[in-house]
Amino acid sequence: MENEYRRPRRGQKPRPGAPRAARPTDVNARRAPARDPVTVGPFFDMGIDPRINANLGPMGLTEPTPIQAQAIPHIVEGKDLMGLAQTGTGKTAAFSLPMLTRLIAHGRKPDPKSCRALILAPTRELATQIAAAVESFAEGTPIRAFRVVGGASINTQISRLERGVDVLIATPGRLIDLLDRHAVDLSKTEYLVLDEADQMLDIGFIHALRRIARTLPRSRQTLLFSATMPKLMEELASTYLTNPVRVQANPPGRAAEKIAQGVHFVNQGDKASLLAEYMSKHPGELAIVFGRTKYGSEKLAKLLEKWGFSVAAIHGNKSQGQRERALSSFREGKTQVLVATDVAARGLDIPEVAHVYNFDLPNVAENYVHRIGRTARAGRDGRAVAFCAPGEIGELRDIEKAMKAQIPVIGGEPPVERKAPPQGRGRGAPKPRQGGEAAPQKRAARRPSRRPKAEQRG
Ligand SMILES: Nc1ncnc2c1ncn2[C@@H]1O[C@H](COP(=O)(O)OP(=O)(O)OP(=O)(O)O)[C@@H](O)[C@H]1O
Ligand SMILES: [Mg+2]
Repeated sequence: MENEYRRPRRGQKPRPGAPRAARPTDVNARRAPARDPVTVGPFFDMGIDPRINANLGPMGLTEPTPIQAQAIPHIVEGKDLMGLAQTGTGKTAAFSLPMLTRLIAHGRKPDPKSCRALILAPTRELATQIAAAVESFAEGTPIRAFRVVGGASINTQISRLERGVDVLIATPGRLIDLLDRHAVDLSKTEYLVLDEADQMLDIGFIHALRRIARTLPRSRQTLLFSATMPKLMEELASTYLTNPVRVQANPPGRAAEKIAQGVHFVNQGDKASLLAEYMSKHPGELAIVFGRTKYGSEKLAKLLEKWGFSVAAIHGNKSQGQRERALSSFREGKTQVLVATDVAARGLDIPEVAHVYNFDLPNVAENYVHRIGRTARAGRDGRAVAFCAPGEIGELRDIEKAMKAQIPVIGGEPPVERKAPPQGRGRGAPKPRQGGEAAPQKRAARRPSRRPKAEQRG
């Protein structure tokens, strides 16, 4: 893949997000000889191109996951598809492998300033990770991918787009900026993928999505993927898909089974020391700590650092350079703890993450499923502990309702709950908080005027 970040030389840091098993082999891979095509195996049997197939074994993809087994044959056939599957079950490969296969099969050069396939992702870090994965899958094929996200030089992106690309991976905000500058033309784009598709209905994205969709040709193949919100996915499917196939592997909206979850009731002021206690029991193991606000997350990161933990923080108040450095040092295991806002809740794949701590409960219930899904990936185990202050009981119950499951209590005393009156919450329960980084998701239809947040816009 050609990108604004360069390929690492031997001995340098590997690309962020490249699937782990691929790293030893894909460093400097552009100059490495292409693998011989492989014409055996379950992915080949599902119609995946033999050159792509040759890359999968060394990346650890030998047997398809359920979502891959169910989705790939339909996508290879050219159908629109809505795919729902739990976190960490390989949705990236489920859409990338068959789409790349089709791009190779209908080989044509992209026109200048155009892309043949467009993948939209809600955050810069996720777009970067998807780009790295696509690049690894497409190694040794003629397919070239390019990532465009905010926080990086738009001029570099504009000049690379001049030649056109096969696969463009973008955050919606930066893509809109590029469309405004006539740097990219989507009128010949044949494939559209919305990863974390339900999030694209958020106020911060829906206008961008509508605008992008208007510039795409009607006859295209469209794929939607997420781990949550089947109803919202249906809404999107009815607007953007044509006769879609619906694939649901594992019960949608639920947490991945391999995550051992627990809730610990604790006063807000005691959360930091409790967190330190938990983390001290697992030295050397990677943990992500989710806070609600940028300010609170930064403060917590500083405190943990003072207490001797090796910490990095990622949130919307950090520069893109700081965000990238924080994430790569965490990916490489140089930092043990990543304190993050919901900017890191979706899609990020760091297989070594063993613990997720919800320092603050998310006030968008579905984000809980995504947050804890940063652990227990690709069949591994993981632990997720939620710290629930007395004022957060409303959020906790909303999360349990959304997951249709109770989170086991592993510490502290649950506060006495008043019975909610028939409509709305009880007086004792808090109203959902507004503002801050992770403000509740409002549907665009209700509040179309809010501007996307900078970190979401890409
Ligand atoms: N068939 C497979 N066999 C083994 N590992 C796989 C397979 N497919 C994907 N993986 C690995 O599983 C991990 C999770 O994949 P991926 O990030 O695509 O999950 P996801 O379903 O998109 O999760 P999320 O909902 O959190 O975005 C990655 O490390 C990937 O390399
Ligand atoms: Mg994903």
